Amino acid sequence: MCGIVGYIGDKDAFPILIKGLRRLEYRGYDSAGVALINSSGNLNVYKSKGKVDDLVAFCADKNTTGTVGIAHTRWATHGEPSSVNAHPHYSQSKNLAIIHNGIIENYASLRKKLMEKGITFRSDTDTEVLVQLIEYIQQRKNLDLLTAVQLALHEVIGAYAIALLDKRTPNQIIAARKQSPLVVGIGDNEFFLGSDASPIVEYTDKVVYLEDGNIAVIRKGEDLKVVNIQNRLQNPEIQTVDINLGEIEKGGYPHFMLKEIFEQPECLTNCMRGRVNVDTDNVVLSAVIDYKKQLLNANRFIIIACGTSWHAGLIGKQILESLCRIPVEVEYASEFRYRNPVITSKDVVIAISQSGETADTLAAIKLAKENGAFIYGICNAIGSSIPRSTDTGSYIHVGPEIGVASTKAFTGQVTVLSMLALALAKEKGTISNEAYLSIVKELHAIPQKMEEVLKLNDRIADLSRIFTYARNFLYLGRGYNYPVALEGALKLKEISYIHAEGYPAAEMKHGPIALIDSDMPVVVIATHNAMYEKVLNNIQEIKARKGKVIAIVTEGDNTISRIADEVIELPDTIECLEPLLSTIPLQLLAYHIAVCKGKNVDQPRNLAKSVTVE
Ligand code: F6R
Repeated sequence: MCGIVGYIGDKDAFPILIKGLRRLEYRGYDSAGVALINSSGNLNVYKSKGKVDDLVAFCADKNTTGTVGIAHTRWATHGEPSSVNAHPHYSQSKNLAIIHNGIIENYASLRKKLMEKGITFRSDTDTEVLVQLIEYIQQRKNLDLLTAVQLALHEVIGAYAIALLDKRTPNQIIAARKQSPLVVGIGDNEFFLGSDASPIVEYTDKVVYLEDGNIAVIRKGEDLKVVNIQNRLQNPEIQTVDINLGEIEKGGYPHFMLKEIFEQPECLTNCMRGRVNVDTDNVVLSAVIDYKKQLLNANRFIIIACGTSWHAGLIGKQILESLCRIPVEVEYASEFRYRNPVITSKDVVIAISQSGETADTLAAIKLAKENGAFIYGICNAIGSSIPRSTDTGSYIHVGPEIGVASTKAFTGQVTVLSMLALALAKEKGTISNEAYLSIVKELHAIPQKMEEVLKLNDRIADLSRIFTYARNFLYLGRGYNYPVALEGALKLKEISYIHAEGYPAAEMKHGPIALIDSDMPVVVIATHNAMYEKVLNNIQEIKARKGKVIAIVTEGDNTISRIADEVIELPDTIECLEPLLSTIPLQLLAYHIAVCKGKNVDQPRNLAKSVTVE
């Protein structure tokens, strides 16, 4: 949801900024732009509609020299994607240039006020209002840039991560954040800025995650200074980031999404490392040890999340209720935050988020906290806003997820939820020793079984070609596999733009069955579990109406293979862990259909990876 990069030092800024934009392109790719101050003191802004490659082509004949610069890749909120609406935005005098990630909620009234003062606007964006306001305040009161920024931010309602250049103070970048992420990298006589650490890790592992309401004053040859809007000096914590560069590159795969699907066995091994111990047959989560009282005394759990993370939450509900005998509610964060929910200090809220920056999830956490709930986060991005705003939590440790369609984060989230359920159930005494040991053993075996499932890649690629004709898909599953059906449908929608819906299989008769004809592919998860016979009946009902059935079954199933059009066999596992295997063929199916249709799987239209606006 917009990516921000900045550089100040002795090197040429342009290549550093462009490389950084490529790393952040997953956050938005409607347009891109760069602002540079060169050695003659000129502030040059170049921007273009489209991707970072389009910006690079546009800049080919431009003067891109300068050792100070900021750059932006945009996911449009206010104003259509165009070069005019692309960032950076100049102020009226063209002395200032700004980049922004977030939304200025009161931009219309501020814009009106500024227009009445004679300021003309070049774009339709909320961001331009910010830079014009800063300049207006600066000029009217003859202030330095920092003070003008502080005064302007007092007037602004909304979320922002911003970076500003002023050509009259060419050795300085001012950056500020509120509810949108911003990281400052500290190098040797140089500083970097990024919406996350990925554009920075190549140059330095020392970073400061700016806190909400903080402003960084970054000057060449000086130490980093951080103040708040009231100009009180802050004491930022310098952290060491541990991201391997290989993790944020494609490593020989044609797309990040495919790489991330194939990484899942290794990711889950990392996720379980030190937590699932096969020698002692034990699951240990430090958060459960440290916060045992809060977690065991909870009257209920409320899981809040969005999108794919919400689907993981639906699986978490089933496993937590089943093993721990505690009521669990699963809520869309966007609904929860606005519907005046009943929350008490006996509630534990589990917030799930890959990026750790989703605006609705953050707002839901804030609301739950204000009402006294204990907050447990399940996140991937280390040091992001959600883990920093929770009481405790568990990282999923699956490494950076770059493909916009979430894959490995989903299985990582389900794995952490399974470990949480096991650890709590043991503490509560709600699980038999035998059941506990068999689930722990099976969890440990899952990465190996995932390797088996991934061997189906070529077969799934072949069958995907058959179904590129389809304009609609249905996905059906029951129990633990119902959220998998939702997730499979979401993956297909996101990257192939084929309409798809997920349903609990038994609901088919209550409406969706009307859609079935000989053109309709129906993906049915029909593994050998307690619901098998019922799902088998659903398959018969689809075939009776000539629908095309792609069945995901357990190895050795001879019954469904005789009825279904296509069959994909999975290794057997314990029912509550089935989603960790049954999700993979659906990820691959969506991936290959999108590739066959020539779609950009890593950067699907209209989407962004990190949804930092509501
Ligand atoms: C789908 C997808 C989104 C995210 C959702 C929540 O593939 O990636 O639906 O799951 O935007 O994002 P996080 O987990 O970062 O809070």
